[in-house]
Amino acid sequence: MTDQPNTVASAAALNGATIFVCITCRAGAEPAVEPPPGARLAAAAAEAAHGTGIAVQPVRCLANCTRGPSAAIRCSHSWTYVFGGLDIACAGALVAGACLLMEAKDGLLPWRGRPEPLKRGLIARVPPLDFHRAGGPGFACSGDG
Ligand code: FES
Repeated sequence: MTDQPNTVASAAALNGATIFVCITCRAGAEPAVEPPPGARLAAAAAEAAHGTGIAVQPVRCLANCTRGPSAAIRCSHSWTYVFGGLDIACAGALVAGACLLMEAKDGLLPWRGRPEPLKRGLIARVPPLDFHRAGGPGFACSGDG
């Protein structure tokens, strides 16, 4: 046992990283398929996040149904990022993305180092509640989300 804090868990505690996963996404799967692909992704994300301090919160619909399975990542005072076209193999990417967002001092998920599913699957980013100044981080469009 060590006295060193788990840096990821510490950052999560400070920044309140949460991965929201839609558990009702079916993404073309037959209605009889249970659990739905979204629910399987949520379970895989929870397993991948185990011990990191990152919360995985199941939700019912992120209004991205036609491009699901869907998930969103948010930290305290960060932008919120919504992703689609995910599958169970993307669980680790969601956790890695949450870690990157926790470490981002400007509240923006960096493109460099972002896992590929979080590049091609980006649907939208939403400003934090305290976003109010033109010219602040994320005000300009960089074209890569
Ligand atoms: S059912 Fe998953 S986004 Fe709507």
